[in-house]
Amino acid sequence: MSIQVNGTTTVRELVGQYPQTRKVFETFGIDYCCGGGKCLVEAAQANQGDLSTLIVAIEAAIASPATAAVAAEKDWYAAPLHELVGHILRVHHVYMKEALPKVKGLVRKVLHAHGAHHGDMLQRVHGLYQALDDELSAHLMKEEAILFPYIVAAEAHRQGASERPAACFESVESPIHQMEHEHESAGRTLVEIRTVTGDYRLPADACPTFRALYEELVRMEGDLHQHIHLENNILFPRAIAAESSRPSAVVRLSGGRAV
Ligand SMILES: [Fe+2]
Ligand SMILES: [Fe+2]
Repeated sequence: MSIQVNGTTTVRELVGQYPQTRKVFETFGIDYCCGGGKCLVEAAQANQGDLSTLIVAIEAAIASPATAAVAAEKDWYAAPLHELVGHILRVHHVYMKEALPKVKGLVRKVLHAHGAHHGDMLQRVHGLYQALDDELSAHLMKEEAILFPYIVAAEAHRQGASERPAACFESVESPIHQMEHEHESAGRTLVEIRTVTGDYRLPADACPTFRALYEELVRMEGDLHQHIHLENNILFPRAIAAESSRPSAVVRLSGGRAV
């Protein structure tokens, strides 16, 4: 089923049915992971962008064939939940656990070397990054220790392979709402870092370490968007729908893909 793209189409519908539109949203600075529920009018307004230009770019992305990498992506709307959880852990949690301390070291080095000329800006980046590091490290741990094992065990239980998993919450919606809240907070911090650095514009006296810091932060931002997209738009709605045995909004919005 194809989607008629207009101002009321949501970002989540588009990234669900046409993964290649993620690139368009990245280009327009539109948050497709935490802000997936926004319609295109709201998304364009939030970024002071032009709606018709955005729609033209989305239609062009939909009309063009997906890149080999996008086409080769697994259909996470249909794969077993334990496979999706495994993918998030292998690809995104492993990356983040390597990247967080690496970038922390770069922030410190650049602040030390360039503090004399760019101290105000670098001190703010240092403070924001420290908050991001603390929050994400704890967040990954909570998902790995509590939420993800529960989702995997609940799926096995529904398939008759194991006992109903014990949990310290009544419904999986409770820890999921907490994780979504933390995603929004991390996303806001990355937006602040982008703003403070002038969209990662390097100063004229930037050294290679300064450049490496900005490159790593941009990479981290892109990876986190994809990571949160998989959790907010696919894993969490599917886990909630499976628990309550009712069709999820994502299933309807993404053109009837199976859960
Ligand atoms: Fe995660
Ligand atoms: Fe998460």
